[in-house]
Amino acid sequence: MLTPAETATVIAMAARAPSLHNTQPWQFRVSGDVIELRADPGRMLRHLDTHGRELMISCGAALFGLRLGYRSLGLLPVTELLPDPAQPWLAGRVWPGGHAAMNKAEAELVAAVPHRHTHRGPFAPGEVATRLLAALADDAAAEGAEFLLVDQADAEAGTAQATLADQLVRLVDAAAAQQRADPDIVAEVRRWVRPPGSRARDGVPAWAIGQQPDEPVPASAGRPLWLPQRDFGQQGGDAPGGVAPSATAVLSTAQDAPADWLRAGQALHRLLLRAATRWVFARLQSQPTESPRHRQDVRDLLGLSGHLQLLLQFGRSNTAPATPRRPQLELMTGEWLA
Ligand SMILES: Cc1cc2nc3c(=O)[nH]c(=O)nc-3n(C[C@H](O)[C@H](O)[C@H](O)COP(=O)(O)O)c2cc1C
Repeated sequence: MLTPAETATVIAMAARAPSLHNTQPWQFRVSGDVIELRADPGRMLRHLDTHGRELMISCGAALFGLRLGYRSLGLLPVTELLPDPAQPWLAGRVWPGGHAAMNKAEAELVAAVPHRHTHRGPFAPGEVATRLLAALADDAAAEGAEFLLVDQADAEAGTAQATLADQLVRLVDAAAAQQRADPDIVAEVRRWVRPPGSRARDGVPAWAIGQQPDEPVPASAGRPLWLPQRDFGQQGGDAPGGVAPSATAVLSTAQDAPADWLRAGQALHRLLLRAATRWVFARLQSQPTESPRHRQDVRDLLGLSGHLQLLLQFGRSNTAPATPRRPQLELMTGEWLA
């Protein structure tokens, strides 16, 4: 039986997960050693995320946090995804199936939880090690997803990398333009952006959108690929300058059902934490995944056999600004509260 302090530790780790627009669309119910994670459809972006795919990716990320939380206590988690077909919002159930001390790699992941963050500005100088990128691919595979570096994509024969990069940028731009022209989507995004000085514990703070470079540095040599960032309806949110991302990747899954979205989310949180152990962080870009046409276009361009879930760009950073999180009591349901 987990003590209240242990339960709080596990849930705090889950609650630091990344989520679409920092909606934190999750609720936890504790019953003995078992913790249930329920998606909160009230926090779903109904116009942007019509099928709840990104809602479930976010919940998958929190599920990985729950599992890591159990590991931090020396417990081996057993996880059941979507345990009750009659309750589609019940994303998963986790309970301890035995004891084992954390290994060094797990301890590093736990230590990275507080400084893992979504990076929106330019990066600090320094390459991302090839070995680390290979480890991120292993993490995704271990969670049932696929992590593919764009420069390794099996693009249509004859498509040069530079052309591929240009086409990818154009697709992201087209997806963003389509969203800017949809008043429902614009209004929905606006609801989740928090103005300077806001005390809200959810949503994307204005400061996180217009992040400044770590330090003024010249643009890196070669032909850097900057995928345009989501501007969250703000002016001038993306002003590339400084060091470009070192690597661009896509996260995909073999199928495209809610269980796959949960797998993608678990993979996402795991690999983002792995990267953060080396002070490598990601810019996330999901706009092209939010319209069926652009999603298919990216899939075709990169020759993906699976279903696109997210685009990521990695680089180094020496800073780790933390976005707010909802208070834990607000996340709990059930008799544990009594
Ligand atoms: C499914 C998903 C899609 C996301 N899409 C974007 C995106 O398009 N642009 C962006 O800047 N951040 C994106 N994010 C990052 C979230 O905005 C971020 O996780 C949230 O604001 C919490 O901040 P943190 O990751 O720094 O803790 C996405 C996150 C998830 C889980």
